[in-house]
Amino acid sequence: MDKFVVRGGNPLVGTVRISGAKNAALPAMAAALLTDEPVVLENIPEVRDIQTMRKLLVEMGAEVELGYGRAHHRTTIHCCGPIRAEAPYELVKTMRASTLVLGPMLARTGCARVSLPGGCAIGARPIDLHIKGLEHLGANITQDHGYIEARAGRLRGGHIVWDRITVTGTEELMMAATLAEGETVMENCAREPEVADLAALLTSMGARIHGAGTATIRIQGVPRLRGARHRIIPDRISAGTFVVAGAMTGGDLTVANCDASHLGALLQKLTETGANLQVADDGIRVTGDGRLLAADVNTEEYPGFPTDMQAQFMALVTQAAGTSVITENIFENRFMHALELGRMGANIKIEGRRAVVRGKTPLSGAAVLASDLRASASLVLAALVADGETIIDRVYHIDRGYERIEEKLRGVGAQMKRIGEMFPKRAALAPAQ
Ligand code: EPZ
Repeated sequence: MDKFVVRGGNPLVGTVRISGAKNAALPAMAAALLTDEPVVLENIPEVRDIQTMRKLLVEMGAEVELGYGRAHHRTTIHCCGPIRAEAPYELVKTMRASTLVLGPMLARTGCARVSLPGGCAIGARPIDLHIKGLEHLGANITQDHGYIEARAGRLRGGHIVWDRITVTGTEELMMAATLAEGETVMENCAREPEVADLAALLTSMGARIHGAGTATIRIQGVPRLRGARHRIIPDRISAGTFVVAGAMTGGDLTVANCDASHLGALLQKLTETGANLQVADDGIRVTGDGRLLAADVNTEEYPGFPTDMQAQFMALVTQAAGTSVITENIFENRFMHALELGRMGANIKIEGRRAVVRGKTPLSGAAVLASDLRASASLVLAALVADGETIIDRVYHIDRGYERIEEKLRGVGAQMKRIGEMFPKRAALAPAQ
């Protein structure tokens, strides 16, 4: 298994370019199931979860062409032949977002068999609300041997009020409703930029959607959808991770090719800690000497402070003067990184969904273990400011959602390398940025 070896202490200087958003690309790839014409997606990140979604779509009978290098991370998905309406456990267990194919498959073919995702490191993460929503549109859903079996004639429009805000739930039902008979109105929807990006793709495929990005979305069903070309938005969580890296290490870092308007809550919090930020149209510049002040954070649904930035922010406030209280309101078990940060010398006390972080505490390099995608990002950030060498194990977690993070960080002065081989041939070829 790959590991990262990081020697801390270098301020970051230069420019990193942000890749496309994993959490926008995954539903967009699933949306291609809604039409028998080609869907061309650009700015697709080169991360492991995209590979998994590609495998799943191919398994279901789609033609998927992935381009890199000069092809600008473009992928073409063509679901023209018969669709095998099944998402197997082998793939779903590696990536719960695979369940995003359920709605489109059901809407397109009238049947779907999808493995239940099972538990996750950060929480139970059931999909009961997705199922309830599809039943609202007339689907008949049973559970059998760990699989969801869904059947429906043509789905019917309906009125859904989400019990709680769910990002992929909103995306799933929005996709299914595009081919339903009549109008669907959804209230208490997720307002994440990834939801609005998916609606932009679906609209270019001929769907009739209003209100995506707000709490109320209206979808007027149409008989069929056509192919389209769409550019995926930049990854706001990846951008936020690099901005935090710049604030923690000091130096002069520009995070380019990102949309600062998607990061309002995070940038406001960072300003509160005393980080020096300059926001431009397509980027954010972070300068400073790494001196920071404590700040409290409550994770919330968008536009509140993103739970996917909680771990990274925790690493930052270990280096801030004073006591910070971090409250995780979205997932019930998202403090696994705190124990590993503790191994590096951080002073963090967990009290249920609250973490009390006392700083500033000097961190020292150690051997640590990544437990999930964002937890592993926080360990990389801590290692960048730690004294000596840190060895981060199980970095396959970070490869799921960050494109070549070690090359990007090395390109702006970090001392970081990967041990073990993920893309043997490719890694040898691709020059560091
Ligand atoms: C999306 O997950 C993201 N994943 C997550 O990013 C992100 O953390 C999360 O939204 C919250 O912002 C993708 O977009 C692929 P939810 P999702 O449904 O849609 C509960 C990352 O690091 N819930 O909004 O699965 C659920 O358990 C990942 O990139 C139900 O109870 O999250 C959670 O507590 C991690 N029943 C809350 O709602 C349901 O049917 C919000 O989850 C659905 C959700």
